[in-house]
Amino acid sequence: INCGVIIVAAGRGERAGSHPDGPKQYRRIAGRPVISHTLDAFVKWAPDAPIVVVVHADDSDLIAAALLQVNGSTGKIRVVTGGASRQQSVLAGLEAMAGLDIDHVLIQDAVRPFADPALLDRVGAALAAGARAVLPAIAVADTLKRAGGDGSVAETVPRAGLFAAQTPQAFHFQTILDAHRQAAAGGRSDFTDDAAIAEWAGVPVRLVEGAVGNVKLTLQKDIIMADERLSAPLP
Ligand code: C5P
Repeated sequence: INCGVIIVAAGRGERAGSHPDGPKQYRRIAGRPVISHTLDAFVKWAPDAPIVVVVHADDSDLIAAALLQVNGSTGKIRVVTGGASRQQSVLAGLEAMAGLDIDHVLIQDAVRPFADPALLDRVGAALAAGARAVLPAIAVADTLKRAGGDGSVAETVPRAGLFAAQTPQAFHFQTILDAHRQAAAGGRSDFTDDAAIAEWAGVPVRLVEGAVGNVKLTLQKDIIMADERLSAPLP
């Protein structure tokens, strides 16, 4: 498949607290920035794919340093400036890739450094089989509760059929570009993932098995656990 990759990294990472290394995508795990690990996975899996990294205007030094620490060729990587929401950052990446003659695009959160080749193969295989939108996801294992306003449980949400969405999500390029442009033109800027934009645009989204290890680093403890996991891999 002829695909490009967008890595969104323009968030401020406020839920992880502030740190001298910068926002969480630049925090060090196993001695290198999180985003360097994320990029490793994609340059290894698709060495010829163009990659657009979407960053905050304040982070140009941080991304330049992180690119120097990628294991693999960074020759196909371009850096562009993102927006105020994740949705706006993805659209900036898509617009930067328009005109490159790409059939498909994988869209990845910079803060997921553990995308493994088998997961990327599953996502790629679904595209090759004709899906226009592909979502890796994990069936929810915990029983889910909705909280009421007073700190007690309002209800139990049946978990059957519920999945937790991961990235990389993958799309037919023109389909997701059109959907994103439509969403932005309609004044929407609050979609938290791209599969939701495809759903909104009426594009069927194919579920594929995610990877349990493909966690999103959100809180301070996630970064510490990721560092420990890379330093002392589980047997
Ligand atoms: O905020 P959230 O955890 O959903 O962010 C997921 C990914 O989207 C992160 O990699 C973050 O850097 C990116 N993002 C972005 N632009 C924003 C907000 C988030 O690129 N304005």
